[in-house]
Amino acid sequence: MRLLRKISEKLGREIESGIDIVGDIAILKLPNMEEQKKKEICEIIASEIKNVKTIFEQTSPVEGEYRVRKLRHLYGVDKTLTIHKENGISLKVDVARCYFSPRLSTERMRIASQCKTGEKVLNMFAGVGPFSILIAKKAGCEVVSCELNKYACSLHKENSLINKVDSLVNVINTDSGYLSSMIREDFDRVLIPLPSSSNNYLQIARNFVRKGGIMHYYRHVGGRDEDDAKARLEAELRATLHEAQLSLRKVREVGPRFFELVADIKL
Ligand SMILES: C[S@@+](CC[C@H](N)C(=O)[O-])C[C@H]1O[C@@H](n2cnc3c(N)ncnc32)[C@H](O)[C@@H]1O
Repeated sequence: MRLLRKISEKLGREIESGIDIVGDIAILKLPNMEEQKKKEICEIIASEIKNVKTIFEQTSPVEGEYRVRKLRHLYGVDKTLTIHKENGISLKVDVARCYFSPRLSTERMRIASQCKTGEKVLNMFAGVGPFSILIAKKAGCEVVSCELNKYACSLHKENSLINKVDSLVNVINTDSGYLSSMIREDFDRVLIPLPSSSNNYLQIARNFVRKGGIMHYYRHVGGRDEDDAKARLEAELRATLHEAQLSLRKVREVGPRFFELVADIKL
């Protein structure tokens, strides 16, 4: 953003790389500074990104069971509900009460592009439905979505209706740890998008995958660099999945020497 860089090249670049735009809401990560300066920054952002009606400052990391971040209102209409469009689908999102990251849209398309019509898919940590709905819409798969946050589930159900995939997507409001007592079927593909603690669910996920099926296992891993982090994840997985075919990729960097990786695991 040209005007943001005018404040200072370094600060402008730092702010830009931290902006999340969800629908008409912008979420900023700001360093310590005076309120007046924050106001100026908001005005520049609102003038440069025409669609932005509301701006929040993120005041905590993504945290807690529901993986949400604390927000402080800085500018414009004080509301947290919006409609976000990505990959040809529309998603109703509450940025204060549910997890959502616009930064994962390419990853969601990568997974949806691998899915084939007729596959049965289980998404163990579904949020408001961005993976599940895209998979149902693009590939026509039947999807079971599991989500602990009741409000995220209700938005997911609305989103399934909005995108006309409600007959393909079944949303279950429960802890994924209890799924084995609720569902007996096998799946062609299981998604485990809870990178902060997915290791606690790997065995449960594995039991749901049919022979020859695939798991997409998301994990936060520290390491000197990307290759080191991948080597650590591979060692972690090899300890229990001796015979599986693994393919590891970086999804994004989530901190200094801290990576979000995904392992595509073919059983
Ligand atoms: C990192 S978010 C991913 C959400 C979604 N896949 C997305 O990309 O937007 C993880 C989600 O898992 C949910 N969650 C956390 N623990 C859970 C559990 N034990 N069982 C089911 N859902 C859980 C959180 O509420 C959150 O919505």
